[in-house]
Amino acid sequence: KQLPFLRDANRPPVVFHILPFIGSTVSYGMDPYKFFFAMREKYGDVFTFVLLGRRVTVALGTKGNNMIMGGKLSQVNAEEAYTNLTTPVFGEDVVFDVPNHVLMEQKRFVKFGLTTENFRAYVGMIEEEVEMFLNTDSSFSAYNASDNDVWGSFDAYHSMAQLTILTASRTLQGKEVRSQMKKSFAQMYEDLDGGFTPLNMIAPNIPLPNNLRRNKARKAMTDFYLNILRQRREKPSEETDYDMLAALKDQRYKDGRPVSDKEIAHMMIALLMAGQHTSSATVSWCLLHIAHRQDIQQALYEEQVEHFSNGDGSLRSPTYEELKGLPILDSIIRETLRLHPPLHSLMRKVVSDMPVPYSLGNASEDRTLVIPKGNYVLAAPCISQVDPGIWRKPLEWDPSRWTEAGSLAAQLYRDYTETGEKVDYGFGMISKGTDSPYQPFGSGRHRCIGEQFAYVQLETILAMLVRKLELKIDHVPPHNYTTMIISPQKPRNIEFRRRQVSL
Ligand code: HEM
Repeated sequence: KQLPFLRDANRPPVVFHILPFIGSTVSYGMDPYKFFFAMREKYGDVFTFVLLGRRVTVALGTKGNNMIMGGKLSQVNAEEAYTNLTTPVFGEDVVFDVPNHVLMEQKRFVKFGLTTENFRAYVGMIEEEVEMFLNTDSSFSAYNASDNDVWGSFDAYHSMAQLTILTASRTLQGKEVRSQMKKSFAQMYEDLDGGFTPLNMIAPNIPLPNNLRRNKARKAMTDFYLNILRQRREKPSEETDYDMLAALKDQRYKDGRPVSDKEIAHMMIALLMAGQHTSSATVSWCLLHIAHRQDIQQALYEEQVEHFSNGDGSLRSPTYEELKGLPILDSIIRETLRLHPPLHSLMRKVVSDMPVPYSLGNASEDRTLVIPKGNYVLAAPCISQVDPGIWRKPLEWDPSRWTEAGSLAAQLYRDYTETGEKVDYGFGMISKGTDSPYQPFGSGRHRCIGEQFAYVQLETILAMLVRKLELKIDHVPPHNYTTMIISPQKPRNIEFRRRQVSL
């Protein structure tokens, strides 16, 4: 009989550990990249580790991505992996608190709010928000106008979190949310956000102060949205609302049932939370990199001048279509998401025994591995995004790889935007790409719904900031993994001064 820590020939190898419940929680939690690379070296692409009592099977590489992100519903299930964390924050009856087919319908509803028409309206709104932020935020306002020779500094992540929520509330969330942003809404948001902790993955309802604050804030935020819906019905506005509430309020499920106001409120919370840290981390990593690489910052600025100069030293506003067509701006974001995808681990629960082709792990040819029902599976596209077997100089931040003729990145970019195989998961045709080495927005049926919105937001914020500011920093800080998403470690202060003259 095998000793329990020795390998069962049909199961993926288990990472050696001493404490049964803790397992590899600490080494994974401290630095998942280091952990995945080290375990891959030891065990191959497929291995199981213990994470707070859960048995989690990791499948690395493009085949691993494909197996998990393209996994059949009969085998893998996202709701059971995420609901503990998300349902107390978002509220019931949405996203991972409903069966997959309902989530697919809800994603379809959200698509109605993510239209080109709305994105066109958002560019100008975001531009105004950036302007107002620079004029009023205490880190920036003292450095206005003629003081442009004086360098100030701002905390990249902290400042960009503020700017992100202001721009998201002005656009997707709607004017009522925006108007309360400096008031009641900010506190509700902070309390809700405090409920997003790794411990809640396994025990979401321990009556800790942060969980109690989370519960109260969630109820208050639900009421806040319910109230907006009520007021909009009672007093319809003359102006068009380009926000998500306007898109969701008239949707119906396939069986004819209208989406309830409570479901709408909870979807609004889900969208707010899903977009906030992901986008603010990404924009801060972009700024940190361009602050470090003066040459690329200059190229980015010159791209703005080339396309938007009025000829008198000023720059005009871009349109949505124009912003989308800027290769330097685009490749800076793309490259930043390659090196710093906000989500490093995408999880599913295994609901029926899952055979793994032997070619995936290091198993010998004569057997197939089985990931048993009850395990979790974890895809880590963050690893294939920096795999030395796939990318040239994988750890170098080099936006030019995305425009370099014949490069893998250029090829991927083309496949992704133009020729990618499209599949209808019930919420519109999307690129499948489950075996892509590059998937910062995930892939398959749970693929991110906010990518296009995130791009509008990131592109507009970056373009406006580089027009107004010169940035510098000595080095780009390392990753902090203690936050739920990958954020820049402190210190992460960027020095800046106002840019005075356009070229
Ligand atoms: C799902 C990344 C912004 C809404 C995901 C997933 C990833 C991701 C990797 C897949 C998770 C999984 O398969 O387990 C990102 C990144 C963003 C971003 C990198 C920004 C840079 C947004 C925004 C929104 C949003 C702005 C909303 C407006 C969602 C939702 C899901 C999701 C609702 C769940 C979809 C599902 O499970 O079917 N996102 N996201 N995301 N994202 Fe995003």
